[in-house]
Amino acid sequence: MKAVILAGGTGTRLRPLTLSTNKHLLPLYDRPVIYHAIEKLVKAGIYKIMVVTSPDHIEGFVKLLGSGQDFSRSDGKQIQIVYGIQNEPNGIAYGLYIAKDYVDDDDCVLYLGDNIIEDDIGPHVRAFKGGAQVFLKKVKDTWRFGIARVDKKGNVTAIDEKPAKASSDLAVVGLYIFDNTVFDKMIDQPKSDRGEYEITYINNKYIEEGNLKAVVLKKPWFDIGTIESLHDAAVYAKSKRRRK
Ligand code: G1P
Repeated sequence: MKAVILAGGTGTRLRPLTLSTNKHLLPLYDRPVIYHAIEKLVKAGIYKIMVVTSPDHIEGFVKLLGSGQDFSRSDGKQIQIVYGIQNEPNGIAYGLYIAKDYVDDDDCVLYLGDNIIEDDIGPHVRAFKGGAQVFLKKVKDTWRFGIARVDKKGNVTAIDEKPAKASSDLAVVGLYIFDNTVFDKMIDQPKSDRGEYEITYINNKYIEEGNLKAVVLKKPWFDIGTIESLHDAAVYAKSKRRRK
């Protein structure tokens, strides 16, 4: 299993904090935002990670993370971080496509770097047996997210991207596990109305095959795309440090 962290975007909702830097490089209490995703993946036993970002910010990521020398595996060896460059902010599926050759014939975890996830993802990574897996969390602001409809057996029956009228209150968080067929599902993918190659389109392809599983997260989750949520996540991180 490899991992791809998407760390691009213009961070418009976080301006002026993001005028001179990328949101994943901003502080989340005592560490940069992107540390959270890397530590979560390493804890889950994933040691090969591609960080995909824009040409404007790649240098900051290389300075911060290098080849991964500050993150060690459970056996003490170094992890491996490599980089992919996304020239245009064309959507999440497009960002993952950049990692196609890196992922090669492996399965992969796709991690949106602005998501702060508290649950341990290791058990889900180890239990993964093909198809795709999404993670859900109850929200009030349904218009901000992909919203999943789930049947009585817990299978996802549809995902609507940022619906005006939501059919449930379960948001799809920015963490996905995909088998290698994910790249085939991108062939002939159309852009959405907002001009992006949506990951929701890919997930709906897995739904058509009956291959999309869902887990509802139990612990807190933050998408630090707004000033309020970045602040809330920092306050949470501080309280967590105190408890340790
Ligand atoms: C993206 C996905 C959306 C998901 C969200 C999680 O939204 O398109 O389905 O719920 O990440 O953070 P975006 O960050 O593009 O607004």
